[in-house]
Amino acid sequence: MAGISRRQVLFGGGALMGAGLVPGVNLISSAFGEEMPRPAYMIRAGTNENPWGPSRLAIQAINRSLHLSNQYGGDRRRLLGLVAGINDVSSDHVALGTGSGEILKTAALIATLNRGSIVCADPTYHDLIRYAERAGAEIIRVPVDDGLRTDLNAMRRAIRADTRCVYLVNPNNPIPSIIEKNALREFVLEVSQDRMVFIDEAYFEFVEDPDYATMMDLVRDGHQNIIVARTASKIHGLAGLRIGFGFAHPDLITEINNRKTGNINVLGLDAAYASYQDEEFQKFTLRKNKESLAIVEGMHKELGHRYVKSKANFTFFETGRDVREVNAAFRKEGIIVGRPFPPMLDWLRVSMAKPDEIRYFVQTYKKLYA
Ligand SMILES: Cc1ncc(COP(=O)(O)O)c(C=O)c1O
Repeated sequence: MAGISRRQVLFGGGALMGAGLVPGVNLISSAFGEEMPRPAYMIRAGTNENPWGPSRLAIQAINRSLHLSNQYGGDRRRLLGLVAGINDVSSDHVALGTGSGEILKTAALIATLNRGSIVCADPTYHDLIRYAERAGAEIIRVPVDDGLRTDLNAMRRAIRADTRCVYLVNPNNPIPSIIEKNALREFVLEVSQDRMVFIDEAYFEFVEDPDYATMMDLVRDGHQNIIVARTASKIHGLAGLRIGFGFAHPDLITEINNRKTGNINVLGLDAAYASYQDEEFQKFTLRKNKESLAIVEGMHKELGHRYVKSKANFTFFETGRDVREVNAAFRKEGIIVGRPFPPMLDWLRVSMAKPDEIRYFVQTYKKLYA
């Protein structure tokens, strides 16, 4: 890394380096309002990754640990201790997963083995639900309300005696809305009396809204049936290294650990250990995410789109067209956008790429559809 500044790494890294381009040669928006050219690489705006990550400190840690790749595992306890400390719980309240996806699937497995149904919002993130459904669980999908918010009252009504898990994603995905914190707390405390409540907080770090709160304090307070999931894949930009966390009562953590099937690797562990201490990088990502969101939400206002103001690192809006066609059209223009999210098949999810990449997305959207 000698001779390359943090700024160069941040601005020239990630997809550009992956595409074999020289750091610093970027997609630059025209100062004269001319059309931006199609970039020489595919812009990734389809899977809610961090376009700036991993952080410089994480990359340094990976470089230092590469020679340990002959070893199984790595120092789990060090990362568990760090992340437990950040969240003010003891390490026995935390399970490490190969991404939070492993924690989601393990919870799905536990609910399914207990021969139960699972209640979730519709639409919401698919991992836990799809896994449980394929394992034989019945999924009770509760449509979001008219404001496209998770409908807690309707979920309450949908819960049955055999419901073993209620899955809440907050902020939700693909709809980047949040659940109001007081209503959520009341719901979680009530519903977790008789079943597991899983709160997926993959986008927790992006939210800046006084109506939002993590439910981590309920885990801290010793409640038995509550799992909070977090991930190193989003704000930390480590999606490819598969590190995620479940926070719960130690008995539930033991049950999760007994059912998990994945194996963590040393590079993921050491990169996450560095990244969770790199506050500067997280702040930088947040700032850039807001910049990109402002650009795309400006387009929504200009074109009169129906959309939900984003609390996360993606936007979701009504195009009025089949999303598969929209997706294919954008691929031809050099941009990967979100897949279909039934039942909202004429809405499009776009992940926040770098600001200039999002400017190019807006230019392309207007060219194709405005
Ligand atoms: C809401 C939500 N939860 C969990 C995940 C899984 O993330 P990972 O397995 O990379 O931690 C994602 C990924 O997109 C997500 O959107």
